Amino acid sequence: MSYLADNTDKLSPIGSKAKKITTNVLKQMKANGEKISMLTAYDYSLAKLVDGAGVDVILVGDSASNVMAGHETTLPITLDQMIYHAQSVIRAINYALVVVDLPFGSYQGNSKEALTSSIRIMKESGAHAVKLEGGREVKESIERILTAGIPVMGHLGLTPQSIYKFGTYEVRAREEAERQRLLEDAKMMEEVGVFAIILEKVPADLAKEVATLVDIPVIGIGAGGGIDGQVLVLHDMLGINKEFSPRFLRRYADLHTVITNAIGQYIKDVKSSDFPNEKEQY
Ligand code: KIV
Repeated sequence: MSYLADNTDKLSPIGSKAKKITTNVLKQMKANGEKISMLTAYDYSLAKLVDGAGVDVILVGDSASNVMAGHETTLPITLDQMIYHAQSVIRAINYALVVVDLPFGSYQGNSKEALTSSIRIMKESGAHAVKLEGGREVKESIERILTAGIPVMGHLGLTPQSIYKFGTYEVRAREEAERQRLLEDAKMMEEVGVFAIILEKVPADLAKEVATLVDIPVIGIGAGGGIDGQVLVLHDMLGINKEFSPRFLRRYADLHTVITNAIGQYIKDVKSSDFPNEKEQY
């Protein structure tokens, strides 16, 4: 396979030998039936762990607005703040493709604004691609961003930047009309040149239909296993944030307990003068 590089020190868990993940590698992975792993990261230290573990795609998601800044929605995070997070992540990366969310208000105005925001992300952070939410309503913006040679990832289904329009975080596209619209939007995205699509919280059978319909990778969160890859928010899957437990979330660790216990022990040791001991001082 032409995309394979010689080095074997960066193997993804199921054997892709790509030296560095690119949008073409992702397309090849879909063609070869190799599933794509994707996680969010927003800072240098955790991005280094995620990249070192061999995740294929790192998303500097606007979920930073929730998990890093404590906002209720993704709407408040700014383009400058997204660029700051992306810069921190990029410094940590050797292997993964880094995709950065265009935040709310940075692309909906018109396609020129979408291009200007995307150029800022690429130029100031060194990221590899941008992601934006929505279907036909952002088609012109997608096309304009692509004219500058910037790879674009789409995001359909539950689109958190539109939460006040939808009013709930319920599963999307259960009704026939919305299913059809989503299928058409996915096809349109492939036709205009989007390199991959995120599907969030849609029925598994619909997600599978989308993945069959298009040749570009379809990566899901709450969209079932019949697609080309999966994405989760890092803080959720590590169990740092315990308040959020939707059905689709699998927790791979309980860092909430680990961190709380470690800090509790530190407080005890300081209060009892156990820390620092003789070996821990100069
Ligand atoms: O911002 C984010 O973390 C996302 C994922 C949920 C796909 O868009």
